[in-house]
Amino acid sequence: MVALGEFKPSDYWATHVNSIFYGIKGPEIHNHFQTYVSLDYRLAHALANDFYAQAKNQQRPENDKWRVQEWGVGNGNLAACFLSRLREIDSDEEVYPHVYYILCDESEEILKGVRANPRLQEHAGKFSTVRVHAEHLDCFRPHSVAKIITNEIWDDLATKVLLKHQGLYYEEYLCPFLKAGALPGGSDAFLEQFQNKDLEKLAEHPNFLDTIYWERDFQRVNLDDWPFAEILKAHAEEFKDEIPMPINTGAFAAIKKAKELLGPGNFGYTSFDYGMKEVKDLNQEGRPYFNLYGGQYTFMVNFPLLENIGRSLGFTEVTREYQNQFVGRDLEAEVVSLVDLVQNHPQVASMAPWDRDILMLGTLNALNTVYRSPYSGKLNYPAMEGTPKKQRKQIAQLAKNLSSRGVPDTVAYVTREEVLASLKPLRKLGYREKDIQSAFQSPAPPVSFVHIQFS
Ligand SMILES: C[S@@+](CC[C@H](N)C(=O)[O-])C[C@H]1O[C@@H](n2cnc3c(N)ncnc32)[C@H](O)[C@@H]1O
Repeated sequence: MVALGEFKPSDYWATHVNSIFYGIKGPEIHNHFQTYVSLDYRLAHALANDFYAQAKNQQRPENDKWRVQEWGVGNGNLAACFLSRLREIDSDEEVYPHVYYILCDESEEILKGVRANPRLQEHAGKFSTVRVHAEHLDCFRPHSVAKIITNEIWDDLATKVLLKHQGLYYEEYLCPFLKAGALPGGSDAFLEQFQNKDLEKLAEHPNFLDTIYWERDFQRVNLDDWPFAEILKAHAEEFKDEIPMPINTGAFAAIKKAKELLGPGNFGYTSFDYGMKEVKDLNQEGRPYFNLYGGQYTFMVNFPLLENIGRSLGFTEVTREYQNQFVGRDLEAEVVSLVDLVQNHPQVASMAPWDRDILMLGTLNALNTVYRSPYSGKLNYPAMEGTPKKQRKQIAQLAKNLSSRGVPDTVAYVTREEVLASLKPLRKLGYREKDIQSAFQSPAPPVSFVHIQFS
């Protein structure tokens, strides 16, 4: 094994590899994440409905637009569906004409994809893109923004990891390693490129990040040296011993910036992310605190701490709820993500991965007998590598049968009514009514998708 650098606090190396990840993947980057907003529209519509309800009763900033900013924008689908929904419900033209949407992202490759998004192009003139790092948004005037939205970006930002042991605090340190033979190019040259984030050179080896092996170590730390030390110390009193706790310092910076940018009569900062909603979830033994996806290093989000940070920055109202509660309230229905329904199928745990794909496609087709999306777009569902020929054929046929107005994604939200109305074809796939009930009634796991709102 060859060390690619020295042991450093987790936030240092994770942000280092993430900026390489977003900087070297090229257009392929868009295939690297599936989120609740990248193909589905229901979360974006819930946000638009909420924005409309508030904005139509509110005086507009004089001679000005309501500026909505989104930070960390992916393929731009959230922005596109937000604007389309706003245009649709605003029959009196009180809100949509006065909104201007600014999509901010660190990655030029991401922004290129956004500008080419046909759903967003329908709103030409109503949006712009800005290349900027979410922890250094210094290019905007203070108090000039009406609403800020982020989805699954805090987990990418700087995060430290804290652990309590017998009244003392320890911080996680990381060190990246590669197998000696796996160093691309000449080893000295590569180490320099990696440490200096030489994106042009590193892009010649787009998959090396996947093969990094991470060593961990915990070192004594004095919390007085950390941002928001007093709040952090009070929060850490609640920690159970020996459980690694993510401290999302990048999100602290984002919340602080949001407070500075939001203007008079604003509609707050809304964020969605993956993490622990309550202190009891933080204290759940064995829950994960980080994830590695295709070389990207992400951390779970510590929501109770971020609420305290928001309050200390002057946000007077902070609310936390599960993301599906937010979407469900908007639809006045109970909702689950389609994948959660599939997870409750009685045979799913014992199925081969390709049989699970077949079940997912069957479930999509079953729901599509009743579901009608307001947007057209057929879900692309290729067979995974290693799928045997027979199943590959079956997957291709089922994928071909998917409706272009059907459930837009495997993680899309579906309502209990939609699922029950598809009961007949679902039964044929082996679902029983009790499986459907348990999909809607399962208690949330300690790491879940959460909505937080700072006003
Ligand atoms: C996991 S993706 C989520 C994208 C989108 N919000 C969605 O939910 O589909 C994270 C996004 O944040 C962007 N990003 C990551 N780190 C960033 C940073 N430090 N500043 C600004 N954008 C960042 C990435 O380029 C990417 O578009």
